[in-house]
Amino acid sequence: MTRGRFISVEGLDGAGKSTHLQWLVEHVRQQQLSVVQTREPGGTPLGEQLRTLLLNEAMHLETEALLMFAARNEHIQQVILPALQRGEWVLCDRFTDATYAYQCGGRGLDLAKFSQLEHWVQGRPEGLLEPDLTLIFDVPLEVSKARMANGRVLDRFEREQADFHARVRAAYLQRAKSAPQRIKVIDANRSIEAIQHELATILGPWLQEQA
Ligand code: TMP
Repeated sequence: MTRGRFISVEGLDGAGKSTHLQWLVEHVRQQQLSVVQTREPGGTPLGEQLRTLLLNEAMHLETEALLMFAARNEHIQQVILPALQRGEWVLCDRFTDATYAYQCGGRGLDLAKFSQLEHWVQGRPEGLLEPDLTLIFDVPLEVSKARMANGRVLDRFEREQADFHARVRAAYLQRAKSAPQRIKVIDANRSIEAIQHELATILGPWLQEQA
């Protein structure tokens, strides 16, 4: 059986990625493919508990990074690998690129430490487990801020200052430059139709491969 495909979606809070992820899930399901939709931090009962802590409780910045990877380890072991091995597609709302963007870029933590954690948690005999494709939904900071301010109670990350979000965005764009084959930056400051058209074009070859 062919291994399923692993796709992650990323972006600033308020970039609209959840809406686009939902569309992607439907689009892939329409091709009669089995899809697991999941998210980080979270995706398992333990991971969801860690998510509640991460989004709400004050903690040391390195504790935050370690908990992100702890939740990720559980997620990989319990959900992602088993699904891929069953030949299903995994569509994940954020993965390790978010740690590089938020904990390295936003928080300014040491890149080398993350690389070690990444190899520990994602290392496999056949190589590093990474998404086959990552879509970064990119919007200017003002757009992200305006969408976040939409009457909700903001979480610990959303409450950060504009310069934090600027560093997160810059880190995402830098990450995309360093892995242009895997990471596609989508201009998410356009109409939904234009964005969906681009997503369908990007996914086309992946879907054909499975047909
Ligand atoms: P979400 O609201 O988009 O689901 O993500 C929850 C928050 O968690 C979001 O503000 C980004 C943050 N986050 C990190 O800081 N590091 C990570 O590795 C992940 C996966 C998320």
